[in-house]
Amino acid sequence: MTKLRVYVTRLIPEAAIQMLAEQCEVEVNPHDRPLTREELLLNVRNRDAVLCMLTDKIDAEVLDAAGPRVRIFSNYAVGFDNIDISGASARGILVSNTPDVLTDATADMAWSLLCAVARRVVEGDRYTRAGKFTAWKPLMMLGLEITGKTIGIIGAGRIGQALAHRARGFNPKLLYTANSPKPKFELETGATFVDRDALLREADFVSVHLPLTPLTRHFIGERELNLMKRTTILINTSRGPVIDEKALVKALREKRIWGAGLDVFEREPELEPGLTELDNLVITPHLGSATIETRTKMGNLAAENILAALAGNIPPTCLNPEAAKKS
Ligand code: GLV
Ligand code: GLV
Repeated sequence: MTKLRVYVTRLIPEAAIQMLAEQCEVEVNPHDRPLTREELLLNVRNRDAVLCMLTDKIDAEVLDAAGPRVRIFSNYAVGFDNIDISGASARGILVSNTPDVLTDATADMAWSLLCAVARRVVEGDRYTRAGKFTAWKPLMMLGLEITGKTIGIIGAGRIGQALAHRARGFNPKLLYTANSPKPKFELETGATFVDRDALLREADFVSVHLPLTPLTRHFIGERELNLMKRTTILINTSRGPVIDEKALVKALREKRIWGAGLDVFEREPELEPGLTELDNLVITPHLGSATIETRTKMGNLAAENILAALAGNIPPTCLNPEAAKKS
């Protein structure tokens, strides 16, 4: 019997590749960079499954290029704004993501950014390395207290809720937005459900945990930044386009808010002009899930999804089980 053919668009942890290779013929992008559009279109052809990244745009053209053989696009990410899910469903192609396994790592990253901005960790590092630390000074590089503050979580899904649990050790007042109130979460954390504008007006730290959809694009823009206090810190570890980056640069430059921590950007990997000149900002290159343990678990889950689909089953974290009925 000919082996099922799997394409992996970037090198991922070895365990996942091995899981796939036990049952399938696996080919991996040999380059240390995302595939070009042309390479993507070429390499998905005649595969039974594709393990893809958030940097791969899987639209109708790619789905068609894969051809009738493909059973699944397994995304190595929890976010799936890079994939045309309804287009995949219409073609009977399954799509899966990697939820849950990266929740803690991503919440840790959001909390790390919050602390780094509030306590000027990166600015202090630059200063010290530059040989400027000549004496302890009572008024040098004062940051903001974290304990006892009001923390606003925009989008209390899995990651937003995990952030709230981390914050609890800091005795905060917790506010959150979500599509609907979450009584269990409120009971566990004492968080209060509010609308976006109330949260922005009141929170000292705002952390964004929204998926990117047409409704959440520029969810935080100039108007929303103007609602925030001058002492507020904004954190984003979700998707860049949820914040209007141009408006954010302006607000940070004019010190209309105190600072920001960004792990994601509007046109990744490009940065909005002026962003890197700001001191009241900490930026990291989309590292939310980047721990050895989490990236390994993501790979294993992405591989399990593929093996399930190829065995004719619904993958464990399938986004469109309805697609199975079409084929
Ligand atoms: C990372 O951004 C992810 O969606 O997993
Ligand atoms: C978003 O993906 C979340 O799980 O909160």
